[in-house]
Amino acid sequence: NPDPRELLDLALEAARKGGALAARGQEGISVLDTKSSPTDVVTEMDRATEELIRGVLLGARPSDAILGEEGGAARGSSGVRWLVDPIDGTVNYLYGRAEWGVSVAAEVDGVVVAGVVEAPVRGRTYTAVRGGGARRNGEPISAAPPTTLDMALVATGFGYEARRRRRQAEVLATVLPRVRDIRRLGSAALDLCAVAEGTVNAYYERGTNPWDWGAGALIAAEAGARVAGLRGAPPNFDLLLAAVPGLFEQLHDLLEPLGADTDG
Ligand code: IPD
Repeated sequence: NPDPRELLDLALEAARKGGALAARGQEGISVLDTKSSPTDVVTEMDRATEELIRGVLLGARPSDAILGEEGGAARGSSGVRWLVDPIDGTVNYLYGRAEWGVSVAAEVDGVVVAGVVEAPVRGRTYTAVRGGGARRNGEPISAAPPTTLDMALVATGFGYEARRRRRQAEVLATVLPRVRDIRRLGSAALDLCAVAEGTVNAYYERGTNPWDWGAGALIAAEAGARVAGLRGAPPNFDLLLAAVPGLFEQLHDLLEPLGADTDG
């Protein structure tokens, strides 16, 4: 099996090059295409950045598989699959905001073993290797200590389609009065890194994809958070929840009966 640290080094190289390209292109950016709704946009830089990242990864390891947000799936034979989100936080990116990141994760036989979230405008690089802890700019980070739900700062995110959003707003109407406050940062990858560094206590969202959370989920878990779906499921599209043990269960038990993992 490949050494996870070597996979991390390659992920870092790809994410840094991709992040630098995307950061250079942020000013004057224009929308190229839309996906699930008119506000679910793809910019020219999403595509160019993913292409560059794919080139770096496959240039070094040509028989790996890749699943990318924009370029879709490419098969491989090595047992390694890369999960790539070239710009997570595309709406922030489009509006000239800083909260976006490049997410690159390496899976070996279906398990993420290394991940990078590179946030170039914020000057932050989050990394983790399975079993090796989480780091920000090379320094170890850890999630905030357990707290009660009413004292928790909770991040969440919303999908792009109206039906899902209506449901997410209903769930939020019950969650908001029960917590310290809510944050909507606009990047699932950075939400998970915020859990990892303790700048929020928890994060939950319905409807995210493996390229959004592949790297961030490992980083949050390596920082001490529990990252899972509802009812003990692995993180999935239905719902992704990240918080330190203790708080995780409280938020889980609030969200589960609300049907937060459905579109209603
Ligand atoms: C989106 C962001 C957002 C989250 C959405 C994602 P994108 O990814 O992570 O915070 O709420 O669910 O789709 O479109 O910016 O790559």
